[in-house]
Amino acid sequence: MELLEGLRTRKSIRAYKPDPVPRKLLLEVLDAARWSPSWGNTQPWELAVVGGDTVKRLTADLVAAFEQKTPPAPDVPMPQTFPDACQKRYMACAAGLFGAMGIAREDKARRFAHLVNMTRAFGAPAIIYVTFSRELTVPYTMLDLGLIIHGICLAAHAHGLGTCIEAQLALYPDLVRRHLNLPESQKIVVGLALGYPDPQAPANAFRTHREPLDKFVTWVDY
Ligand SMILES: Cc1cc2nc3c(=O)[nH]c(=O)nc-3n(C[C@H](O)[C@H](O)[C@H](O)COP(=O)(O)O)c2cc1C
Repeated sequence: MELLEGLRTRKSIRAYKPDPVPRKLLLEVLDAARWSPSWGNTQPWELAVVGGDTVKRLTADLVAAFEQKTPPAPDVPMPQTFPDACQKRYMACAAGLFGAMGIAREDKARRFAHLVNMTRAFGAPAIIYVTFSRELTVPYTMLDLGLIIHGICLAAHAHGLGTCIEAQLALYPDLVRRHLNLPESQKIVVGLALGYPDPQAPANAFRTHREPLDKFVTWVDY
């Protein structure tokens, strides 16, 4: 897949076929993504690639915590409010997705079911957890992690795989560390749901919008 086409056509995938993703294919994806840039080439990322029954056991526990309304305790604070313009786009994204899935605004049960499905990584056969050392300074490390995350999403897309970056998979980091045998010193930022997209699923027909360039680009002496 051509690079520019990949950038334009990648989108979040929220329904997966159950077929496992071969380790060899994931190696190709990660081998490309490791060339992502980072501050001073510090490469502060660590990845935990999770498959098989561990995905099932982990997501079952995450869902149980979520359904029991256990207070989330993410390692990286999650935004609670947004400036108006961002909030509007956030709302438009949710409305568009629920619209594509045929979920009415007032249908609380199906909206909650969607969140539960999100907590089980939308049925993806693999999850890649992106982690970093507690010793790192957070703000710029997040930028570096974002770069490899996008790299993974694009490389996966080029290989016919779908991904969804999920903060939802990082709500209960202690639980994730326990299932993955990660040390307390590794902080978790997100999990990436990963697998073969289910082309029939209404959720996967949804595509978000982007602002036109004149809304956010200032040209200076150009
Ligand atoms: C840091 C981050 C966290 C995200 N967390 C979630 C999530 O928990 N659940 C979800 O369905 N999508 C999540 N997303 C996906 C965004 O909703 C999605 O990238 C955005 O709406 C743009 O759509 P696109 O990826 O299809 O282009 C997240 C994306 C980012 C960058």
